[in-house]
Amino acid sequence: MTEAGGPRVVVARHLLPAGADLLERYFEVVSGGLDADRERLLALLPGADAIVADPTVPVDEEVLEAAGPGLKLVANFAVGYDNVDRAACAGRGVVVTNTPDVLTDATAELALGLTVAAARGICAAERSLRAGGWSGWDPADYRGIELSGATVGIVGMGRIGFRYGRLMAGFGGEILYTSRSPKPQAEAELGAVRADLPRLLAESDVVSLHLPATAENRHLIDAGAIGRMKAGAILVNTARGSLVDSQALAEALAGGRIAAAGLDVFEDEPRVPAALLEAPGIVLTPHIGSATYRARDAMAVLVARNVISVLDGEGPLNEVPPPSGQR
Ligand code: 8YV
Repeated sequence: MTEAGGPRVVVARHLLPAGADLLERYFEVVSGGLDADRERLLALLPGADAIVADPTVPVDEEVLEAAGPGLKLVANFAVGYDNVDRAACAGRGVVVTNTPDVLTDATAELALGLTVAAARGICAAERSLRAGGWSGWDPADYRGIELSGATVGIVGMGRIGFRYGRLMAGFGGEILYTSRSPKPQAEAELGAVRADLPRLLAESDVVSLHLPATAENRHLIDAGAIGRMKAGAILVNTARGSLVDSQALAEALAGGRIAAAGLDVFEDEPRVPAALLEAPGIVLTPHIGSATYRARDAMAVLVARNVISVLDGEGPLNEVPPPSGQR
């Protein structure tokens, strides 16, 4: 094991004590802090052996160059890694790691929560109650959509999509999914049916996104895709904001084309477009998919274990592969 004060680990912003305490046992650790801007990060980087990043920290050529030739690892505090230029890392022999599995339950549970909240208008009903708008019992008031028997479309049947499918299976409806490859476990256990995106959009009462963001799938859910959704359907996004054209979604909600949406992620976080803030039938949360005590601590520990393992020469525990053909 490496001695404390040896290799230099630069935490771009902040790592929870569950991980930071581990790293500090073995390495010199410096942190930019939660409000660190790009300039501060670039100033901290020279001589870094490892960088701990998160989805708000773009890791590109400039960052890698600032760290210098000793950089061995970019450890991302997230399962997603769209903030990391993997080709640039691969070009310099820098390993990239992420934090899969430990946040699967937390994120799938939030997706379930957003689905129910959007279907039943829970947040709008609560706002109404608090504002004194609940003036008496009216059978026509506060009506929402029942999920029992609803067809659920899961776009991206990876770990989180599958967990969400298991949770949603309790409502007893059919499950459709898209995926680059068939998912025998989801098909056997949930009776899930693989479909292409147009079919999934056309047949699902709930469409939930669980795929990584890439340059190719930016605005996968655009006006055209929303136009193919069932009238009165619900869209849920706990993956990445770039997957959805916010303006098109806001217009579809305002026009009643779809009934509701639950969004945890946005195109330009932490900014949320006014059109979404004002849209009817929408539930918005501030990117809290993995925000449980258990998941966030486990993510921090996993980040630290990856750093320790790589800097000790034992290799990464959770390597994100370089773009195809670039090893
Ligand atoms: C964030 C996430 O990492 O894992 C991901 O890809 O989006 C989240 O878990 C977390 O919210 C910290 O920003």
